[in-house]
Amino acid sequence: MKACLFKIQTHKSIMSQFAELSFDGKSYQLPVVEGTEGEKAVDISKLRAQSGLITLDTGYKNTGATMSGITFLDGEKGILHYRGYSIEELAENASFIEVAYLLIYGELPTQSQLEAFEARIMKHNNLHEDFKKIYDGFPSSAHPMGVLSAMVSSLTAFYPGALNPNFTDEEADRTIARLMGKLPTIAAWAYTNSIGAPVNYPTDKDYCSNFLYMMFKRPNRDLKIDPVVVKALNTLLILHADHEQNCSTSTVRIVGSSHASLYSSVAAGINALWGPLHGGANQAVIEMLDAIHADGGDTKKYMAKAKDKNDPFRLMGFGHRVYKNFDPRARIIKKACDDVLEALGVDDPVLDIAKGLEQEALSDPYFKDRNLYPNVDFYSGIIYRALGLKTELFTVMFALGRLPGWIAQWKELRDNGEPIGRPRQIYTGATPRAYVPMEKR
Ligand code: ACO
Repeated sequence: MKACLFKIQTHKSIMSQFAELSFDGKSYQLPVVEGTEGEKAVDISKLRAQSGLITLDTGYKNTGATMSGITFLDGEKGILHYRGYSIEELAENASFIEVAYLLIYGELPTQSQLEAFEARIMKHNNLHEDFKKIYDGFPSSAHPMGVLSAMVSSLTAFYPGALNPNFTDEEADRTIARLMGKLPTIAAWAYTNSIGAPVNYPTDKDYCSNFLYMMFKRPNRDLKIDPVVVKALNTLLILHADHEQNCSTSTVRIVGSSHASLYSSVAAGINALWGPLHGGANQAVIEMLDAIHADGGDTKKYMAKAKDKNDPFRLMGFGHRVYKNFDPRARIIKKACDDVLEALGVDDPVLDIAKGLEQEALSDPYFKDRNLYPNVDFYSGIIYRALGLKTELFTVMFALGRLPGWIAQWKELRDNGEPIGRPRQIYTGATPRAYVPMEKR
């Protein structure tokens, strides 16, 4: 790699302790790795070679897949830090592009670094005119997440240089700026296409205002962009910007570990994010609220369904794999949610149902005992609904926010020269047996 445009800060871990594993009359010493926040992990990378054992952890609930210097979170204490800075301080003071720079390059930018980064992103925010032909090929009913992922994948066709696995730092920086610049345009065009409105070309407004302009400007009416909405969007994007090794980020890393391009890795991450147990939850929240409303608005009935072990229904937007106390992002976004609802003067029965469910769940022993609190998706769905977005677009908004995190994680993986990701398994299928000819089956 050649000279780096921006510098990365790395954190070393200390390896001074060992854990001992006894099995079948033998004992094995396994190094204990400690991170900068005191988290400890048993390094089992040599365990199979030494003992024939692997570890089993379906859903990776207790598996560290990498050592990363990007995001720290403590689910028990409700802490989230990007590169050491608290999410509360960043959400209060920073712009989304500033946070993107921090995540990707490791340090808060100086004024001139920020301006250069933003200018580079905005230089790349237009789409090749041939993209319109691809949009035209989708039915207007196409889910925008599918369109988003397809469009990000197709960037490899327009910019094949990104396929070179031996890229220079300068080439990587260009690909990063291109993707940061183009994703809002891709997302907005997916939206306008889905509602039959003409596409809007990017302008020289700031990142958030430009996105809102491309989404909501129509030829027959002026658009007044409310600063409260711009601020809420900036906050939402920051809150979603990274969340260490979640499902979509792990997907980006594992695809990137095969030296697939940044575009291909992020397209895979978009598909992972789409699922209703991950980013798709904000869409699922509103769909659930709509269903409750259509069914007469009886929140108690749905609370009972959520608690019934024989009923697959779950209260969408509640609970989190790692936050078992509270989600710090949910606290911040709740305030942004209240501000937006007040500024826009929204009167929506579905939002009243959301408030009722929130109150009931917070005082219900089932939810309290299991530490099930509203997560970030509960409130983000409500804000997007208030902005008048189609529910299918909610997860696209999440993807816009998560992009710098995906990029940072992909960059870290490649900068650290991590090996290809390839988990093992415990086989539980049939033992060897003879092929059965068709007539004997
Ligand atoms: N509604 C009702 N019960 C729930 C819910 C819920 N939303 N979430 C968890 N539970 C219950 C489970 O039934 C289980 O009960 P039990 O101990 O009596 O069996 C207990 O709480 C623990 O649940 P798990 O599924 O083991 O928790 P896990 O950490 O695996 O799941 C998850 C986390 C997937 C987020 C889950 O809480 C859920 O499905 N929530 C709804 C979907 C959602 O909002 N997803 C968005 C997550 S945030 C994000 O991706 C940005």
